[in-house]
Amino acid sequence: MRAWDETEDAVRRQAERRAEEHEETLRDLDEHGIALDPLGERAGAGGEPVGDDAGTPGTHRHGDVEHASDHAHPHAHSGPGEKPVVGIIGAGAVGTALGIALDRAGWPVGAVASRDAGRRERFRARVPGVRAFAEPNALVDDVELVILAVPDDVVEPLARSLRLYAGQAMVHTSGLLGAEVLAPAMAAGTQAGAFHPLVAFADLERALEALHGATIAIEGDDELAAHLGDMAEAIGAVPVRLAPGSKAAYHAAAVLSAGGVVALLDVIREVAAAVGLDEAGALRIYLPLLEQTVANARSLGIERALTGPATRGDAGTIAAHLAVIAAEAPDALPTYRALLLRDVRLAEQRGALSPEATERLRTALAPDP
Ligand SMILES: NC(=O)c1ccc[n+]([C@@H]2O[C@H](COP(=O)([O-])OP(=O)(O)OC[C@H]3O[C@@H](n4cnc5c(N)ncnc54)[C@H](OP(=O)(O)O)[C@@H]3O)[C@@H](O)[C@H]2O)c1
Repeated sequence: MRAWDETEDAVRRQAERRAEEHEETLRDLDEHGIALDPLGERAGAGGEPVGDDAGTPGTHRHGDVEHASDHAHPHAHSGPGEKPVVGIIGAGAVGTALGIALDRAGWPVGAVASRDAGRRERFRARVPGVRAFAEPNALVDDVELVILAVPDDVVEPLARSLRLYAGQAMVHTSGLLGAEVLAPAMAAGTQAGAFHPLVAFADLERALEALHGATIAIEGDDELAAHLGDMAEAIGAVPVRLAPGSKAAYHAAAVLSAGGVVALLDVIREVAAAVGLDEAGALRIYLPLLEQTVANARSLGIERALTGPATRGDAGTIAAHLAVIAAEAPDALPTYRALLLRDVRLAEQRGALSPEATERLRTALAPDP
């Protein structure tokens, strides 16, 4: 990414070119007797901002929302040495948390776009002074770095509907997609990247806390990556750059660490119901054990953290588990089998099992013929 201040000349030249083209078009239309928007900017109406905020030239406000009225002016750009003005499209879990975290870290969050009035309001309440738009396109004029914090499936179609100006950059927050999906929004002198925080954004306040020390995978050319690295560090996170082609595997491991563990908790809840425990009771009893196991893995490593019947060759215990689960919580059976087979492999690797014990355990865990 070029230094933001180096883009100023290019931006000014582009703006002048656009203004000339605009005037030329108006002259052509005049010559043909066509009046374009007679109450528009030249009559001093229609394009004027209204409401409590005069707004950026080319936008006007309706209530809390701003709509684009003219796309022909240059986008906002920071002064030499200043941080780029950030705009966030999508005021969902990730967009809102990043907006608040960046604002707290002193990064200028200039605008947000969300189709939902409630989410716009929540964002404005937490990021004072931010401009809120209903349409993603309207935001582009106001910022230098656009963050697309929208569902993975929406990233590419949304990028198709946007067009950056020279000197601007766009990133998405998807853990799976590469920066190349943003190509449709790119023009000469623009840059695409990714900024994926390895955080479970289930709850806003917890996510804000979790951003401190979290890993953020960044993508982009060296200059954009340097800016994204600064941005990650500003919010207390640790930026990493992944090897090309490794993003899907990186994301799969992340999904196992978050959703995978939640699925395991759900299986635990289901089996614990056979003991007579409700969800709260199951969490109270089994979460400390789970936390202890995670702490063991952290300090001892995965292999040495393994405990349980697989490490002892207790095939009879496993057979008893399979019988009760089959009777009381049959949906949990495939997960129990798969996880215990993995435990047997780990125990074998650790040298804890004789070949005979390994065979006994594998036989016990094999599905009924
Ligand atoms: N959740 C996590 O734990 C997590 C962690 C790391 C990365 N991510 C990634 O971050 C991205 C956003 O995830 P999220 O969890 O923040 O999702 P989310 O809470 O569902 O928010 C998504 C936002 O995108 C907006 N949106 C949806 N469809 C849209 C469309 N067609 N056009 C414009 N905006 C649209 C939503 O609508 P409104 O316009 O109605 O506001 C909403 O504000 C995804 O790529 C995800 O993979 C998520």
